[in-house]
Amino acid sequence: MSTTSSTWPRQLRLPGQVAAPDGPIDMKMMYLMHHAFRRDLDLFVAAVRATPADERETWALLADRWDTFAEALHEHHTVEDAGVWPALVSLGTAQDVATLEAMESEHGEIDPLLEGCAAGLRRLAEHTDEDARAALAVRVTAARESLRRHLAHEETDAIAIIQRLLSAEDWAAIEEEHANPKGTPLAKVARLVPWVAYGVPRSALDRVFDEPGGRGFKVIWWCTRGRFARQHARTFRYAA
Ligand SMILES: [Fe+2]
Repeated sequence: MSTTSSTWPRQLRLPGQVAAPDGPIDMKMMYLMHHAFRRDLDLFVAAVRATPADERETWALLADRWDTFAEALHEHHTVEDAGVWPALVSLGTAQDVATLEAMESEHGEIDPLLEGCAAGLRRLAEHTDEDARAALAVRVTAARESLRRHLAHEETDAIAIIQRLLSAEDWAAIEEEHANPKGTPLAKVARLVPWVAYGVPRSALDRVFDEPGGRGFKVIWWCTRGRFARQHARTFRYAA
């Protein structure tokens, strides 16, 4: 169904977000994920600089939290690479295709940086190693800069292409086929919902809760947010 600009949704804007191109698709789930990625990398940079090298319990918590972050980011990139960019390539101009190819190659640059960070955190969870902490501080800062640049590029240029070339129905079909939200195990949903929602303004969360199906999201958030907040405070206890 084609829409006109008068019926387009109001796009969500969250802290750190660089752009929110207008169009027929409500991109709030994309922006919620981007917010969580930026928030976590800022926290990891602060924690790696400030957590003493011999605080193994805290490093173990940081390694666990990294696994949640990296799993969510990997799945987000996989959906984009397998479902979103290919859907646009045949519809776009040569300039659009160059942007979409850049998206995929930026994903390819970020993944090895993330693996290096995971290895550094695991090392510190098991050994007091000041050199490993110093090396990890460099790596996690590089990962943050790389992801920040990529998300800014995506929000500014790639999402503008999505909004220009796809309908809301096209987008829903891509999500259904590649993200498979209904097939996600409950334990994973219970892990990811409080993680995504943490630090998001309540007005933005209410937009998600008010949607069809949003009530289940709200119930899970209510049930999991307290435990998540306590774990979060322990994990980032040294991060200012
Ligand atoms: Fe994205």
